Amino acid sequence: MSTRLPTRIALFLTLLICNLAMAEEVAKPDAAKSDATVSYWNDIRPIFQVHCQGCHQPAKPGGEYVMTNFESLKSGGETGDPAIIVGDPEASLLMEYITPTDGAAMMPKDKPPLADADLEKIGLWIEQGAKDDTPDSARQKYDQDNPPVYSAAPVLTAIQFSPDGRYLAVGGYHEVLIHQVERLLAGEPSLTARLIGMSERIESVAFSPDGARLAVAGGSPGRLGEVQVWKIDDFSLDFSVPVTYDTIYGISWSPDGKLIGFGCPDNTVRALKAEDGEQVLFNGAHNDWVLDTVFSAKSTYIVTVSRDRSMKLIEVGTERFIDNITSITPGALKGGLNGVDRHPTEDQLLIGGADGVPKIYRMFREKARKIGDDFNLIRKFPALPGRIFDVEFSKNAERIVAGSSFNGTGYVSVSNVGDGKLIAEMKGIPSAIFAVAFSADGKWVASGGFSGDVFLHDAETGELQRQFVPFTQGDKVVADASTSATDP
Ligand code: HEC
Repeated sequence: MSTRLPTRIALFLTLLICNLAMAEEVAKPDAAKSDATVSYWNDIRPIFQVHCQGCHQPAKPGGEYVMTNFESLKSGGETGDPAIIVGDPEASLLMEYITPTDGAAMMPKDKPPLADADLEKIGLWIEQGAKDDTPDSARQKYDQDNPPVYSAAPVLTAIQFSPDGRYLAVGGYHEVLIHQVERLLAGEPSLTARLIGMSERIESVAFSPDGARLAVAGGSPGRLGEVQVWKIDDFSLDFSVPVTYDTIYGISWSPDGKLIGFGCPDNTVRALKAEDGEQVLFNGAHNDWVLDTVFSAKSTYIVTVSRDRSMKLIEVGTERFIDNITSITPGALKGGLNGVDRHPTEDQLLIGGADGVPKIYRMFREKARKIGDDFNLIRKFPALPGRIFDVEFSKNAERIVAGSSFNGTGYVSVSNVGDGKLIAEMKGIPSAIFAVAFSADGKWVASGGFSGDVFLHDAETGELQRQFVPFTQGDKVVADASTSATDP
């Protein structure tokens, strides 16, 4: 395989020289372009991010090889050979692994080889000295041995209880924090695991229906969107899949546990196979960011809500847009939709958005659409002040919870599904509320938002039970985490 490499580079150089010669006579800008040095940050990192880093990061170092940190990217993994020999692509293990022979390459593992243009860029970058031009602000600093250290609580947008009621998962900075619910309620130190991954921001978390895994949607703005899937038994990363170049939202599992759906700021909804992360659904029917997703009871449809104010029904098998579930008549819509959840057993959808009114819709139209109708609407609940950012059904389907924000103050309400009546109101929460969740037994509602605090309220009385910062042990800041971060 290494014999093909010099030929490739020689050819590239020949072309480059021809180009330069021609460019001299014709146009200057071209010459400047072909002459340019290859930038790691702008040219090489995006290739590694898409094709390699999912399997070569601190939380999942395939072959003991970490590619998210420049030192280890160069030094290599379990073979003991340096991955990159500066100035010498031919002798570099990395080039050997990615250069195809007879159409197949060792890396990316079990995937088609990189495009020729990418191989050429990587070769040229190594030849030019394999320089690191990563901006300081963007360096990957955190892993299990160097956990994030907090000086202020990050905005909280993701919170979920595990189906067995044991754990509460909360999105932090660069990590998901796992608390043990029993200890939390007993006022004991409850932080039991820190799932530290590549993404700076955690936007959404969802336990698999069997509770064995946790799917995470997040990213680093303008750079990376990522789906992480963690195993709950040992809190290890099962896999990570980079998607798009921006933070992603609204992750959900299909009830059969086979698919993971999420929304993207490129207005698409996508779904991956939960087994290995292969993308199996891509739909661009929305015309603004897709903020939340949920599957139908039989896992054959995915429903999406968006800043474009609509809720859409998409068929999984064909990836086709089927219907707008909410009315799309101008005037009927009031601002974007932020959250959607499905009735635990039926194809009914709970939504919340800018109008502050939680509503339940039927998923499948039973009558042909008439202009201006909102036929699928089943029930409206009492309005919350401001905008709703998240909604959820209780597991027994008897209650709904919604969380909103009005002028920076948070509001959470629990209502009865049967008659739409208000059960409990949590008013005047000192933080905009962006995420809400019912505990498995329906007794508690957890919420959080701008302040970064987690609020735990009694779902019947609305009484505040606990308030804590998720990266602390209940109330106390995790001291050992900050020491290990400064002293690896
Ligand atoms: C699906 C997971 C996966 C992807 C994607 C992947 N790798 Fe790997 N890589 C592995 C595993 C696992 C090993 C250990 C050897 C093996 O199992 O083949 C490995 C080994 C390596 C090694 C050898 C390291 C050493 O010194 O032992 C290199 C170099 C490497 N990969 C480079 C890459 C590059 C470059 C990409 C992207 C173009 C990539 N890999 C994509 C899983 C992956």
